[in-house]
Formats: sequence, C-alpha cells, structure tokens
Amino acid sequence: MVADGLAGLIRTIPGYPKPGIQFRDITTLLLDPAGLSGSIDQLSAALADLKPDLIAGIEARGFIFGTGVAQALGCGLLLIRKKNKLPGAVLGVNYALEYGQDRIEMHADACPPGARVVIVDDLIATGGTAIATAQLLRQAGAEVAGAGFVIDLPDLGGAARLRAGGVRVQTLLE
Ligand code: PRP
Ligand code: ADE
Repeated sequence: MVADGLAGLIRTIPGYPKPGIQFRDITTLLLDPAGLSGSIDQLSAALADLKPDLIAGIEARGFIFGTGVAQALGCGLLLIRKKNKLPGAVLGVNYALEYGQDRIEMHADACPPGARVVIVDDLIATGGTAIATAQLLRQAGAEVAGAGFVIDLPDLGGAARLRAGGVRVQTLLE
C-alpha cells in the first residue's frame, strides 16, 4: 500500500484530548490488515539503511510500530516508557507535549555503549517526546542513528527540530 492509501485509514477527531487539538487517530489504520502491515513494511524499508542494532519504541503507540520494524530489520526492541513503569534502575527525562507534560524513562542498562539505536513512534508533532528520547538514549551511551514516524504534523515543527539536533528523520505521511 502506498502512503496515500495509509492516509485514508487515519481518522481525525477534533477537540481530543483538549479543545483546539486535531487528534490523528491511528486505531482505524491498525484495524485494517493492509494498513497495519503496509505501514510497518514502509517504515521498515525507510529505516533499513540506518542499520540499527536496536529499535527504541515509545509508549504506547510507538510500541506497535516499533515491534514490527524491529522484527522486520532483525533488531531487538528497547522500551521507552512513561514514568514509574519499569522495574529496574532507570534514566529519565521530563518533556512537554502538544497537550501536556510527561516524563519518559528507560532501563539504565538497556543499551550497550555505542549501540546504533533508531527511534520509532506513530507520530511526531512538537517533537518534545522524540527529542527527549534522543537525549535519554544519548545519556545511556547510544548513538541515535535515526528516527521513523508514520505521521508528521509539519506545522508543529517537530521533525525539523529533531533534524536540527542531528537525527536523520523518516516519515511516511503528513
Ligand atoms: C503521542 C504520540 C507521540 C507524541 C507526539 O503520544 O504517540 O508519542 O504524542 O507528540 P510530540 O511530538 O508533541 O511530543 P502520547 O504522549 O499522547 O501518548 P500515547 O502514545 O500513550 O497515547
Ligand atoms: N500527539 C501529539 N499531538 C497529536 C495529535 N494531534 N494527534 C495524535 N497524537 C498526537
């Protein structure tokens, strides 16, 4: 399926979770077998050249696409979780979202020094989540080899910000 076909499977819900937000809902894409496999295949193809050792999937929607990409590229999956979810010793970073504040964490020992890690999530908006993830991975000793997203909201500038921070960014649709 080409990216145009994927766009038609994403639903927009105005006013969620706050007035003024146009929420891009991927649950409809996930319900469609060709949408689910096509989005993962296209993201995997776009990221293969980065030759990752690990995929970092961001909770929660990034776990879905991150798992598929990791399997397609023969990598392990490193979980980037919201606060207080991981059982072991963690590293963490606070960040701002389009609609709030949050904190992400990873296990402090999850990443071998110098491992090439590619970040995967469903969507990049302000870039706050992905930039915090890159910061966290670098603190853990990783090389952030790139990042991939199904959806880019270019008006919010996140992909440009992430690229300005030295990360190679691939997105499937705007
Ligand atoms: C959404 C989305 C990204 C992030 C993008 O996650 O899945 O992770 O927002 O926004 P940003 O570029 O402005 O940081 P959310 O925090 O809503 O969590 P969820 O996946 O658990 O729903
Ligand atoms: N995460 C941040 N902004 C979003 C949006 N507009 N739709 C879906 N997820 C988001």
